Amino acid sequence: MTIAKTVDLVRAARQAGYAVPAVNIVDDLSMRAIIAAAEQAQSPIIIQTSVKTVKSMGAEIISGIFQHAASNVSVPVALHLDHCPDRAVITQVIRHGWSSVLFDASDRPLQQAWDETREVVAECHAAGVGVESEIENIVGVEDGVGSDEATHSYSNAKLVEVAQDTGTDLLAPALGTAHGLYKASPVLQYDRVAELGRLTDKPVVLHGGTGLSPEDFQRFIDNGVAKINISTTVKLAYMHAARDHIAKAEQTGKWEPVKMFDDINAAVQATVIEHIGEFGSKGAAA
Ligand code: 13P
Repeated sequence: MTIAKTVDLVRAARQAGYAVPAVNIVDDLSMRAIIAAAEQAQSPIIIQTSVKTVKSMGAEIISGIFQHAASNVSVPVALHLDHCPDRAVITQVIRHGWSSVLFDASDRPLQQAWDETREVVAECHAAGVGVESEIENIVGVEDGVGSDEATHSYSNAKLVEVAQDTGTDLLAPALGTAHGLYKASPVLQYDRVAELGRLTDKPVVLHGGTGLSPEDFQRFIDNGVAKINISTTVKLAYMHAARDHIAKAEQTGKWEPVKMFDDINAAVQATVIEHIGEFGSKGAAA
């Protein structure tokens, strides 16, 4: 059984100078492929579920598949709820064994975000669940959550004040990245990570991993990022493999769903293994 705590994995990465890949799943196939990639590369891994995925698969089913898949590998695997503004969903996943949640309060005014984050931290910590906190909005809509506009940001001092006061474990600040595919080159805020690292020992999470270069990732890690989220790139690998398989089936007349699953599995695994290499976590669980 190698079910791990998100916060432990991220703190260990911060200390050793790499980032833990935090990869969004869409179903059981993608979950198994991501965990298999971690096992192959001997990397710790964080499986992330959006609220949409929790609603489409059901928390109990996700939890059951996760427990089974994670207990059959040697590497540490944690289960995390990505961007969640809905506190009822947080309560639900706590009951089903998630290791951590991202309470996304970026749609609230500062004082409300602050107060509610304090309450969520109390609820989660009472159950041994870690909290990532987002009070600024990270640009881009992911599975129906978020905004394409940068609506508000705060000073580093304010972010740290809120984090210390609420007791959150991980920080998700705006760092110039965006969820989804970039429409224009992002202005990446490496210095902000370093500055936050001087003000607090709480690890910093990088969102919007899709579209960044290996050099971008390395620079963020050098400045202290210890968890990197990727979603869109994995969805693309999944869907392109399905599309290519179906195009081939049209030509050959061979319609075998299980063979398509194999192709999707291979494509998702390859994408995750590539990112494990770029995040420096390869071999970290060996
Ligand atoms: P991308 O979809 O840009 O990879 O971002 C993922 C993410 O940050 C999930 O929270």
